[in-house]
Amino acid sequence: MATTMSGIQLESSVTSFVAKTRKMLINGKWSDAASGKTFDTFNPATGEVLARVAEGDREDIDRAVKAARAAFDSGPWSRLTSSERGRMIWKLADLLEKHTEEFAQLESLDNGKPLTVARAADVPLAVDLFRYMAGWATKIEGTTIPISVAYTPGAKYLAYTLREPVGVVGQIIPWNFPLLMAAWKLGPALAAGCTVVMKPAEQTPLSCLRLGELFQEAGFPDGVVNIVPGFGETAGAALAGHPDVDKIAFTGSTEVGRLILQAAAGNLKKVSLELGGKSPNVVLGDVDVDAAIAGAASAIFFNHGQCCCAGSRLYVDSKIFDQVVAGVSDHASKIKIGSGLEPSTDMGPLVSAEQMNRVCSYLESGFAEGAKATVGGSRHGDKGYFVKPTVLVNTHDKMKVVQEEIFGPVVTAIPFSDTDELIAKANDSAYGLAAGIWTRDIKKGHRIASQLRAGTVWINCYNIFDAALPFGGYKQSGWGREMGHDALELYTEVKAVCSAL
Ligand code: NAI
Ligand code: MG
Repeated sequence: MATTMSGIQLESSVTSFVAKTRKMLINGKWSDAASGKTFDTFNPATGEVLARVAEGDREDIDRAVKAARAAFDSGPWSRLTSSERGRMIWKLADLLEKHTEEFAQLESLDNGKPLTVARAADVPLAVDLFRYMAGWATKIEGTTIPISVAYTPGAKYLAYTLREPVGVVGQIIPWNFPLLMAAWKLGPALAAGCTVVMKPAEQTPLSCLRLGELFQEAGFPDGVVNIVPGFGETAGAALAGHPDVDKIAFTGSTEVGRLILQAAAGNLKKVSLELGGKSPNVVLGDVDVDAAIAGAASAIFFNHGQCCCAGSRLYVDSKIFDQVVAGVSDHASKIKIGSGLEPSTDMGPLVSAEQMNRVCSYLESGFAEGAKATVGGSRHGDKGYFVKPTVLVNTHDKMKVVQEEIFGPVVTAIPFSDTDELIAKANDSAYGLAAGIWTRDIKKGHRIASQLRAGTVWINCYNIFDAALPFGGYKQSGWGREMGHDALELYTEVKAVCSAL
């Protein structure tokens, strides 16, 4: 039961999903936008319209927040036991796993990433995250605290803390890992007992909308998960500013992160932010050169560089700089570019024409400031949104291409000659999301890790993610940590209870 698109077999569930105008999920019902408006989502490999989606705005967000409020304050959700909540999240994970191929195809069509990657990484990581968080539902605990109150001599107290759900949560997610970002946000919020209004990115709403159907199938009560697709400046801004939302969680650009903060100021809702990065990837002189070359290439070219933690600043010991640059450039030249649906494709298109143009204008700015490309350096072809994997040399620390997040398959390679100089260069960034270190001297690796201002440091590996490992940024890369038990703190309030005995 399959149809073809771009030469490969698509599941019939996928072709029928994209064939119909997709509605928004509010209070357990699939509805049109109040305005009746829709928008198109595109296949980035061809630039053709892929599907039509209801375009949410202020009024739809308002309806969704009301539904989430009612489900939180009085609905069946708040009366479930933590074990029942956990089992429901686990069931959702089972359903998602059962539909792995369908979700991988939707993700590849909407985002452009290779189907092989969506199958091996995006979907299984989302399944695993939901299972990990399902386990936490029954383990969110407070503590008992001995207190000594000087001004009530002789009195005794029992004091303890409760961890309670923060309430109605707004979640705004980006397009680089559409399903996985939805999982990172929904998993801990639901484990903690919150209700959610989610706005997926306008470029890639499809997998999140399909996930909404699975939430219904898993038995989540109406209003617990609401999904309102739409644009950032309208639906996103309405959600961030809504006075009845208790917490807003955002992943995306640092620029929009600042707007979210301003919008949240009205009712001082809690805020967590996972923003941009310009992560240093460091190759020391003692290294296994081949392993470091392969690692440096995958650190930047995975997901076409559209990763907030991409290893986009490559610092290499000057003794092996030419060898490593030649090796990474050779890797880049062998990457097979094509539609994400073709089994032989290593790298698909960027997500949108806007993103392709943004990356190409960074390349032009780099060249204007004196950078040279050892490989790539331009758009690939004239159909679809492809950019060639690129290595830039002759760069210096103050160039735009070294300081700003490009969010495309472009790495700047810079030599260093001693460790102090390296640490200073690596930390010379407004961002602090991630870093990589490649060395045979593991002691030195840990020492450098302790000196880097970054939320994640990978040693002799890169882009290793696990539901149990917290992820988030220092400096302007964000506030708070996703995944791991740290994520639950974003979705819980602490209540201190003190009782005189
Ligand atoms: P963006 O930050 O504009 O979009 C991310 C999400 O925020 C989307 O759902 C969007 O609709 C929403 N949004 C946009 N404006 C908003 C507003 N005023 N209020 C509320 N929500 C709003 O990112 P964009 O424009 O797609 O990409 C621009 C750059 O951002 C990229 O080149 C990259 O550097 C960075 N980025 C970082 C990501 C990350 O994972 N940290 C993910 C996506 C983009
Ligand atoms: Mg934007």
